[in-house]
Amino acid sequence: MRRVRKYQSRDFVDYVATLEKTRDWKRHTTSELQARLEKLKRREQVWLAEVETRAVGFMILSPRKDDSLEIEWLDVHPGFQRSGLGTLLVNKAARIVKAKKMLALSMHFPETNKTALGFATKNGFVVFERVKDFYGNKKDALHLRKMIL
Ligand SMILES: CC(C)(COP(=O)(O)OP(=O)(O)OC[C@H]1O[C@@H](n2cnc3c(N)ncnc32)[C@H](O)[C@@H]1OP(=O)(O)O)[C@@H](O)C(=O)NCCC(=O)NCCS
Repeated sequence: MRRVRKYQSRDFVDYVATLEKTRDWKRHTTSELQARLEKLKRREQVWLAEVETRAVGFMILSPRKDDSLEIEWLDVHPGFQRSGLGTLLVNKAARIVKAKKMLALSMHFPETNKTALGFATKNGFVVFERVKDFYGNKKDALHLRKMIL
């Protein structure tokens, strides 16, 4: 069984197990990350996709001043990618946008992240801005948006 639900404190171990495979997150310490998640959890900004009872996809949301909801972090464990879990999470974010009467979803990632670009394009996001040197070291970011009607 697959479902999307809110993140709970007990999911932290699964989250770290996924992040260790998907990104270089070690510039945050484990305790910093845990504290940040606890804070976001209280505001219902952390969601996950569960397969059977294992949490394998994670999404952090952040409301923006321009009436859009930013998908800040989206990570699916590599063993579970390409099975629709990322899309399931984005669909959840779109339902939250509608429920809160906001206008759009947004995402950003390094322009070299072709996987994220393929995924976002398939899910209806459109590039609206390229930000030079966003990550330093001449690494540009792509900013994408999807209007939610
Ligand atoms: C990007 C990511 C979240 C996608 O999650 P996912 O669960 O694999 O995505 P889905 O299975 O819902 O994919 C939906 C569609 O997106 C596209 N897509 C997904 N991964 C892709 C890839 N590696 N290359 C090209 N297109 C891809 C495909 O069109 C796919 O449909 P298909 O499988 O029927 O062809 C996942 O690859 C991931 O966690 N990557 C590492 C972290 C990251 O880069 N996050 C995004 C930036 S915050």
